[in-house]
Amino acid sequence: MKLVRLIANLGYGSRKEVAWMFREGRVTDLDGEVLYADDKLPHERILLDGEPLDPPPGLVLVLNKPLGVTCSRKDQGRVVYDLLPPRYRLREPALSTVGRLDRDTAGLLLFTDDGALLHRIISPRTHVPKVYEATLAEDLRGHEAELFASGTLLLESETTPLAPAQLEVLAPRHVRLVLTEGRYHQVRRMFAATGNRVETLARIAVGDLTLGDLPPGQWRALAADEVAQIFAAPL
Ligand code: URA
Repeated sequence: MKLVRLIANLGYGSRKEVAWMFREGRVTDLDGEVLYADDKLPHERILLDGEPLDPPPGLVLVLNKPLGVTCSRKDQGRVVYDLLPPRYRLREPALSTVGRLDRDTAGLLLFTDDGALLHRIISPRTHVPKVYEATLAEDLRGHEAELFASGTLLLESETTPLAPAQLEVLAPRHVRLVLTEGRYHQVRRMFAATGNRVETLARIAVGDLTLGDLPPGQWRALAADEVAQIFAAPL
């Protein structure tokens, strides 16, 4: 791929704007040699203003999503893309969230520009566990774990029952719930179906991947071995 297109696809500017960057001599190789718009060179050998380029396509990011931001490209309020560098919103192929978390849910949110990978993570068929922690408005009644594990729970206005889910009781109003699917407001609706209400909700893991010490609002790119952790322990 010609360099002008490669750099424009990373969201640094339109092709016209990137073409100007070449004319201004801002794009060089590792030895400082000025490069031209139609040169071809491996990604890792290119510098823009002396800095390495953002990672090439095949990118996977993890964000510790704070409360109050929406998983959408544009919304009235704050969106998750506001927490990434502005050019990440302009990349081609597009960087998408891997499923969604509600505005009032915190925790582990993945982004990728790899459609096949995205599908593999969210598809119920691959049984990738999505692990949530919730606090509840009322004490558990005692029947919830069996109901969620049964594979028969039908949420309001749905026609297919939920896949079996694992509930671990941490305290009478504090639970860990492991799902392999991601239906709309699923955790909240599951507890609503038991006459309870979720007060706080956070996703703490996807597969074996956790947030580690990533603070709320911060993100980082995942290495290949970390992406592999997502698929390490299917349910
Ligand atoms: N279930 C919910 O209810 N909300 C989320 O954000 C994720 C799972």
